[in-house]
Amino acid sequence: MKKIFVNGYGSIGSRITSFLKDDPEISVIGVGKYSPDDDVNVAISRGLNVYVPERKLNDFKDFKIAGTIESALDDCDLVIDASPGGHGYKNKKNIYDPKNLSVIYQGGETTMGDEAVSDLLFNSRANYDLAIGKKHVMQGSCNVTGMGRILEPLRIKFSNRLVRFDVTLVRRWADIEQTDKQVTDTIEMTEKPHHGDDVKMYFGKDAPLFVRAIKVPTRQMHLHIMDIRFSGKAPTPSEIHEIFTNEFGVAILWTAKGTKDIRDYAKNMGFNFTDTNMIHIHANMTVSIDDTVQMMYSDDQTGIVIPENHMLMQAMLFGKSYKDAFSHTESIFNMKERKQKLESYFARKN
Ligand SMILES: NC(=O)c1ccc[n+]([C@@H]2O[C@H](COP(=O)([O-])OP(=O)(O)OC[C@H]3O[C@@H](n4cnc5c(N)ncnc54)[C@H](OP(=O)(O)O)[C@@H]3O)[C@@H](O)[C@H]2O)c1
Repeated sequence: MKKIFVNGYGSIGSRITSFLKDDPEISVIGVGKYSPDDDVNVAISRGLNVYVPERKLNDFKDFKIAGTIESALDDCDLVIDASPGGHGYKNKKNIYDPKNLSVIYQGGETTMGDEAVSDLLFNSRANYDLAIGKKHVMQGSCNVTGMGRILEPLRIKFSNRLVRFDVTLVRRWADIEQTDKQVTDTIEMTEKPHHGDDVKMYFGKDAPLFVRAIKVPTRQMHLHIMDIRFSGKAPTPSEIHEIFTNEFGVAILWTAKGTKDIRDYAKNMGFNFTDTNMIHIHANMTVSIDDTVQMMYSDDQTGIVIPENHMLMQAMLFGKSYKDAFSHTESIFNMKERKQKLESYFARKN
């Protein structure tokens, strides 16, 4: 059994840990916490060992912690870093590299420039095999992962008929559990969003992909508005939807009025963390006009990267084939069943 340490227990770290606990091939040796707050006891109540930085030991004297992060790292086969963006790089330099550890980083890091954590940005749909045997890999962010779920199947189906992709990312302000974070009543423009360059790390640096982003006051998922230009007449909406019929992590919904409808359904169905772990094509919004297909899909911001981390972990730790990793991930996440449930609840009427 392989031992994993999850450094960071926020939106992403808590989800990853919860699913890893269901994996019989993995033992979670513990999680890293940096603030002495209620979440320490939440983690302990879920049966987790909590480790803290050596320099902060004194701050946690009122909690039943298991030891220092530094000592936990001596005893693990792989670290999943789930720290706030930019801290993963600092951790790499300060604590992972000196111990020669294998590490997965999250999408708030970068694979470009002086602070790159890796030269590989992972998207299981596009480059699974490249992660086999790698020591340091970055999992793409939620938006970057979501775009891959759409772009890669389109590329496989239409290859050189594709001329250009224009995407507007409508990003959520905060996550549901980030109750300390105020959702401000404004629409914020994002200068030079990183998402297009990140996608090109797996889609090709010359891909005709143009991305712009805004942030809106909601906690209920991201929405991507995508225009796809073809040479000659564009495919029909049903030809587009057909490509995604059997696609992992893509549900085709007809009657969701907004992103909260999907979150509410996930909650009612008791999905873990109220996540769907996928993207949802809003099929009623797909239109084909001359050479262009317009489409919209929502992206479960916190959930989508969790099965991806699970796939990546299997490539790095076990060197499994895509097929084997996929079926093991499916046995834990039950994505197919959840996709069917979502599609039947939000099916086209009449
Ligand atoms: N939230 C999303 O929707 C989402 C989606 C995809 C990817 N990501 C990426 O996932 C990463 C984590 O995001 P998040 O939303 O989970 O953040 P978060 O909710 O703010 O949680 C961050 C966690 O990291 C801990 N931490 C603080 N300093 C640390 C350090 N130096 N090393 C390790 N851990 C540290 C924090 O501990 P304390 O609370 O104890 O201080 C907290 O538990 C980021 O790279 C983010 O861009 C986020």
